[in-house]
This record gives sequence, C-alpha cells and structure tokens, in this order.
Amino acid sequence: MQQVRAVIARSKGAPVEIATINVPDPGPGEAVVKVLTCGVCHTDLHYREGGINDDFPFLLGHEASGIVESVGTEVSDLAPGDFVVLNWRAVCGDCRACRRGEPQYCFSTHNAKQKMTLEDGTELSPALGIGAFAEKTLVAAGQCTKVDPEARPAAVGLLGCGVMAGIGAAINTGAVTRGKSVAVIGCGGVGVAAIAGSALAGASPIIAVDIDAKKLETARALGATHLVDSSVTDPIEEIKRICAETYGGAEGADVVIEAVGRPETWKQAFYARDLAGTVVLVGVPTPDMKIPEIPLIDVFGRGGALKSSWYGDCLPSRDFPMLVDLYRQGRLDLDAFVTEEIGIRDVEAAFERMHHGDVLRSVVIL
Ligand SMILES: NC(=O)c1ccc[n+]([C@@H]2O[C@H](COP(=O)([O-])OP(=O)(O)OC[C@H]3O[C@@H](n4cnc5c(N)ncnc54)[C@H](O)[C@@H]3O)[C@@H](O)[C@H]2O)c1
Ligand SMILES: [Zn+2]
Ligand SMILES: [Zn+2]
Repeated sequence: MQQVRAVIARSKGAPVEIATINVPDPGPGEAVVKVLTCGVCHTDLHYREGGINDDFPFLLGHEASGIVESVGTEVSDLAPGDFVVLNWRAVCGDCRACRRGEPQYCFSTHNAKQKMTLEDGTELSPALGIGAFAEKTLVAAGQCTKVDPEARPAAVGLLGCGVMAGIGAAINTGAVTRGKSVAVIGCGGVGVAAIAGSALAGASPIIAVDIDAKKLETARALGATHLVDSSVTDPIEEIKRICAETYGGAEGADVVIEAVGRPETWKQAFYARDLAGTVVLVGVPTPDMKIPEIPLIDVFGRGGALKSSWYGDCLPSRDFPMLVDLYRQGRLDLDAFVTEEIGIRDVEAAFERMHHGDVLRSVVIL
C-alpha cells in the first residue's frame, strides 16, 4: 500500500478537495499506474454534483495517461514502464455481448477489485472505475491500453474519455462516412471530437451548433463547415436549410449528434435529422430528465434510428492505437483539445472555466 495526493468530491455539490489516499498494491489482474496527465471532463462535474449517483466520496478524474508502475499476478500483457491510456471499458470476454462478437457493448467490464480509501479507511468510488486526479491509481490491467510512447501524454490521454466518446459517437455509433451530412449540437470537448471524427470520415457538410460563439470557432478549426449559434438562430431550421442547400431535397442531416445531454437539445436533434436519419445521444442526461413529449407518429413516420453512445461504442484496444497513429501522422489534431495544462489544485477552477465555456479541455499534469 502507498499514500498519494488526489482530488476527491466528499459530498454533493461541495467544492472538490485535495486528500491523501491509500492505494493498495495490485492484486490479481490489477495494475498501479503512475498518472502523468488527466483531463477534466464534464462527467467529473456530474459526479461532483451528484448527477451520476450518490456513492460519495468520489475519487475524480478518468481521462488519463500514465506509466505502469507495478502489476499483480495473472497479468501477462502489461509490464512496469509501459506507457498507457486508461480506459473505462476493460471487456470481460465472457458476457453475452462479448460472446456474440460485440465486445464494445460488454455488459460486465472490469475494474480493480480492491478499493482505494481515504486515510481513515473510507472507501472511495473512482469516477468511471478509474480515479486519476491522483498521483497514482489502481485499475484492472485491462483498463490500461498501451500506445506509442513517443506521443504527447496530455493530448493522447484525452482519448481515455471525451475525445474517444465524441469521435466514436460519429464513426462508430453514427456510422458517419463520406457522403453523409452531420450536425453536432454542443461543441465542448465531446462535440468537437465528434466534429473531428466526422471530418476524418469525410462527411460534408459538418454543422456545429452551440450557444457559445467561442466554442463554434474551435469547432471550425477542427473541421466544421457551418456554424450555428442556437442562442440566436433556430438550429432545426438552419440545419435543414444547410442540408437542403447541399443535397437538394434533404430534410435535415443524416446524422445528428447530441453532445449536451439535455431534453431540449435532444429534441432539436430529433427534428433536425433527415428522414431515415440517425440521432446519437452522447451527452449524459441526469436521472431526473425525461424524453420530451414527441408524437409517436413522428418517431414512426420519420424512420431511422435513435441511438445512444456509451464511450463512442469504442473498443479501446482497437481504437486508441489507431487514433494515436492518426495523431502522430498529423491527421487528427489532438493537441487542439488541450486548452491549458493545470496543477492538481486547479480542478475546481477548471470546473468553473468549463461552466463558462472558456476551455475545451483543462488537463491536470501530475
Ligand atoms: N457518452 C459518453 O460516453 C460520454 C463521455 C464523456 C462525456 N460525456 C458527456 O458529454 C457531454 C458533453 O461533455 P463535454 O466534456 O464536451 O462538456 P462541455 O461542458 O465541455 O461542453 C458542453 C457544450 O454544450 C454547449 N451547450 C450547453 N447548452 C447548450 C444548448 N442548449 N444548445 C447548444 N449547446 C449547448 C456548451 O456551450 C458547451 O460548449 C456531457 O453531458 C458529458 O457528461 C459523455
Ligand atoms: Zn463482456
Ligand atoms: Zn469523461
């Protein structure tokens, strides 16, 4: 066991604090990772606000890169010194989804079995089974995905959650390809990644929608062809107009990705897609939110698919090395997602800046 500094959320809505935590030595199938970088994701803020569940205290942070420090028994493909991006989808290989050849939907993903604790022994709930706003963290070995050690940790660490969720929402869940039109509602780290993923796939037009003009400019830099400020323009009408202009007769975009996590923006996505189009919900709603009232005949009559995207339906072992490779080739600008590098004491301030829309990603350097 060793003691390290970490960022915890002790109770609902209270500011985060720095605490000393106990990290057990790795047991069978586990690894201790020395964290190098960890991005601040909106989901961390959801945890702090009690929007995910009530299992306080939380050990926050889950978008991380690091170096494997030690591994337990029964770990064969990971060794101390490996450079890894942490993932929250360590697939089991044994559930129905894994057995039917769709491990990206694994129903029984692995996390460390032992618990990290506060000094007084109180068990911590690590965000998404990771907990990486910490100098070291304990995870299941399968949560460590080895990637090119030459890559910049602060940039590739973001593949651990938001950027992968966004890119995957487009290319995996939404099946965006060349010839498809895409609209993305909400251009934070996740939405802009969906735009970058759509650009990688060759989609056009790629319409970015946000209520914040600063976010729209970033979206343009990552591949958006059209910008819609939905605080002043009706996004449904504007998306329809742009798509009709590009592909005569279109009634909306082929794929509309909702990256906010709110009923009203999901409803915009529903009505802004073309007939037989696809809605992808990648934003995370809170438990009290309801599907907005929509006539069932509209669901039937428009056809297509209403999907949600957990972690961009990614398979970390397949997708992380591929995206790091594209980054190293200059085809995916992961550096553009790193707005600022901050210290472990700056997480609360980073939440504040996220709230004001000042950053795509603040990345804690441990
Ligand atoms: N599905 C997943 O696996 C997954 C993974 C990571 C994050 N998320 C979720 O994705 C969402 C976005 O995360 P993020 O880190 O990009 O957050 P963020 O706060 O950086 O971005 C949210 C964006 O939505 C915009 N926005 C807010 N209200 C809007 C509205 N009414 N219309 C249009 N735009 C609006 C904001 O201006 C901001 O640019 C969150 O709900 C987060 O929890 C999901
Ligand atoms: Zn499984
Ligand atoms: Zn996240």
